[in-house]
Amino acid sequence: MKFPEHFLWGAASAAYQVEGAYKNDGKGPSIWDEFSKIPGKTKHNTNGQIAVDFYHHYKEDIALMAEMGLKAYRFSVSWSRILPDGEGKVNQEGLAFYEKVIDELQKNQIEPILTLYHWDLPEALQIKYGGWESRHTIDAFLKYCRVLFDNFGNKVRYWITFNEQNVFTSLGYRWASHPPNVSNPKRMFQANHIVNLANARAIQLFHQMVPQGKIGPSFGYGEVYPLTSSPADVLAAVDANQFNNDWWLDVYCRGEYPEKIMCLLKQMHIAPDVTIEDKKTLQAGKPDFLGINYYHGGTVKAPDTEKSTIEKNFDKIDPYLMAGDVQEDTPESRLFQSVENPYLDKTDWGWEIDPIGFRIALRQVYEKYRLPLIITENGLGAFDKLKDGQVDDQYRIDYLNEHLVQVGKAISDGVPVFGFCAWSFTDLLSWLNGYDKRYGFVYIDRNDYSPKSLLRIKKKSFNWYQGIIETNGGKLEVK
Ligand code: BG6
Repeated sequence: MKFPEHFLWGAASAAYQVEGAYKNDGKGPSIWDEFSKIPGKTKHNTNGQIAVDFYHHYKEDIALMAEMGLKAYRFSVSWSRILPDGEGKVNQEGLAFYEKVIDELQKNQIEPILTLYHWDLPEALQIKYGGWESRHTIDAFLKYCRVLFDNFGNKVRYWITFNEQNVFTSLGYRWASHPPNVSNPKRMFQANHIVNLANARAIQLFHQMVPQGKIGPSFGYGEVYPLTSSPADVLAAVDANQFNNDWWLDVYCRGEYPEKIMCLLKQMHIAPDVTIEDKKTLQAGKPDFLGINYYHGGTVKAPDTEKSTIEKNFDKIDPYLMAGDVQEDTPESRLFQSVENPYLDKTDWGWEIDPIGFRIALRQVYEKYRLPLIITENGLGAFDKLKDGQVDDQYRIDYLNEHLVQVGKAISDGVPVFGFCAWSFTDLLSWLNGYDKRYGFVYIDRNDYSPKSLLRIKKKSFNWYQGIIETNGGKLEVK
């Protein structure tokens, strides 16, 4: 199986999950620094204070990326490292850190892909304005974007605006499992609308300031299947796709919300307030490409009007399956009922494994929006074990092989996918699952309780991915 020439074989990370150095060199606190202090919110109260200390190990990690032959590295910038209070004075030391990272990547012919926002809002903006519930935060975000576009616009070609807006707004404002720890659907849809405006305005600004670059959001996409061919189940799946996917993607790519869902939210008095000016803003900020994060989709049947309980045994911290039994009358319970898919295996965390769903997802997104796609995340979280100095993660190789084969097939189907960033390069902090849920090609010697030696150890999958990159996909096993 061959991939297009210059395909960006990459890997991804996020600032809070790898950097550590949470208050070094002038960095201000983020909402995650504060939220992780609330007892019981994260596994074993783990946090990103040290994480895997990319801040001090970036040279070593980039050397490993170069050894692997990586063509692209997606990382995020911590907003409060650049603007410690979110909007005021620029912290030159913070800028200098990212400049060094970008230079080091480029020295090694690795394309930097820069995410502007991977969930770590400056705490100061949460306190001062109420975070994404306020339009002031849009102005602060634009100020932050301007600093980065100014400083790195001539170096970085690919930019991501928001990582998984669907996940951080839902978990943060609806299910209270992310900061700012709110459980209120009306507030969630309103905050989400504000983020949509910030996204569109940042894209507009980017197009003015960095005309040679490309920008787009990274969306956590999961195709939703009907459990049976009963028309009622099929309708439930159509609705679920609109609710889970189109609600965001239509706004990004078409500048408008899907009608059906907007009508429902209005009936339920939880719709966002959208002004005429807002509509113009959304229309004026369209992305150049879409980043797709793919882990799994879902399966639904028609809602059972008698009982609105969820049959699926949900993992309450799976970011892709919102914890629908917490609030009683929800839009979901009126549209669909989530069930397990009898055809799919699961990971140790109960996430369904569905490589064909990946091909379906890429096809659906492309045919609908006609934008180039890059996979900005895909990977397997597992309890890797270090034995005699080695990690045999054949299960990760199998997982990535199967998923990449489906990406290759989608490309043959005509979908312009220009890169694949595995999640993740090194092991890192899982927001709610601590350090035991490992995703990396490189094992990090640390656990939930101690940073230990932070030694970097190449896993079996490291050499495997190296071979895939070297042969431009030629070594993928098509079964
Ligand atoms: C995505 C996020 O939701 O999934 C990543 O963008 C995250 O930041 C990844 O780590 C895996 O999720 P989890 O919960 O297994 O860490």
